[in-house]
Amino acid sequence: MIRPEVEAMTRTVIELRRDLHRHPELGFEEVRTSAKVAEFLRASGLEPTTGIAKTGVTALIQGGEPGPTLMLRADMDALPIEEETDLEFASQVPGKMHACGHDLHTAILLGTARILNDLKPRLKGNVKLVFQPAEEGPGGAEPMIKAGVLEGVDYALGLHLWSDLPCGHVAITPGPVMAAADTFRVRIHGKGGHAAYPHESEDPIVAAAALITAMQTLVSRNTSPFDSAVVSVTQIQGGSADNIIPERVEFSGTIRTFHPSTKAAVIKRLQDMVPSLCRSYGTEGEFEFIEGYPALINNPLPCQWVKSAAEEMELALSAQATMGGEDMAYYLQKVPGAFFFLGAAPDQPERIFPHHHPKFQLDERAVPLAMELFLRCVESCLK
Ligand code: NI
Repeated sequence: MIRPEVEAMTRTVIELRRDLHRHPELGFEEVRTSAKVAEFLRASGLEPTTGIAKTGVTALIQGGEPGPTLMLRADMDALPIEEETDLEFASQVPGKMHACGHDLHTAILLGTARILNDLKPRLKGNVKLVFQPAEEGPGGAEPMIKAGVLEGVDYALGLHLWSDLPCGHVAITPGPVMAAADTFRVRIHGKGGHAAYPHESEDPIVAAAALITAMQTLVSRNTSPFDSAVVSVTQIQGGSADNIIPERVEFSGTIRTFHPSTKAAVIKRLQDMVPSLCRSYGTEGEFEFIEGYPALINNPLPCQWVKSAAEEMELALSAQATMGGEDMAYYLQKVPGAFFFLGAAPDQPERIFPHHHPKFQLDERAVPLAMELFLRCVESCLK
């Protein structure tokens, strides 16, 4: 089920992962990480290209015979979180932590690359390894594409380990898998004044409260029950003292959707609702939309490679879609590909925390499974 080369590589990958975990770096600052990546690739007999979109690294494994090029992608960045785990390889950098598993993604792809480089005479086609910066934001995929990483690429695969999916479970879903993650900002301008004489003011706080309440109907009343959307207000600012009605209130939040038509409908509704509702409270409302990562859409053919690999390995299969965002979506807008989840939930339930939590951790038993899955997908694509 797991080939001996993978078993033999697992220890190296885990050690590498633990080293990356101790030294987390934020998006576009992955200087040490990308140097480690390039060093490992060189030691594996590959010739990496470095400095793509600042800290990105790529390498090409040319197969013995011609065929398509399959891209395997890993993300390298950590998050601005103070680690609170009791792991012996916990972050040594204050305020930074690999709290999403990108350290594992990077190490797993490196181990896979070393094995693949030995298998290359048998491959009918090529494998392009892509280590990208800044998945957590502001986004490394788009600048990597602008720098040309997709040139000559026919298919793309990416993996995310998942903290609440049991070890040995694979979630792969054709079609929409992760949501478009957009941002919005609302500015409300009223007429400030003394809090004891509200009739002489136009209170932006009351308008903001009414607007936020009305926004709760965007999903419940304006989105089809067979479709999905999230609209969350996550920040609000206004006011300076107990006895002052402020001039202005600002709030902002996130919009998550799978389908472009749903996204357009939510935006249109907000564009109408914000100024008109604010006007009815005597205030002026302004809506600003800030485009984020697009929805991630899996192509059925690469999904089939992942599914077959998981079945051959007797792993449990499930479908999973999340309202989270992921910049792998940019590659999958350009080439057919798939993004799949592999379970890495710790054994003890009290150790399971969501991604981006200070106590987040993953089970390293997922490492050989991930490498074996990648290898089998490569074999399906380049057979
Ligand atoms: Ni992540």
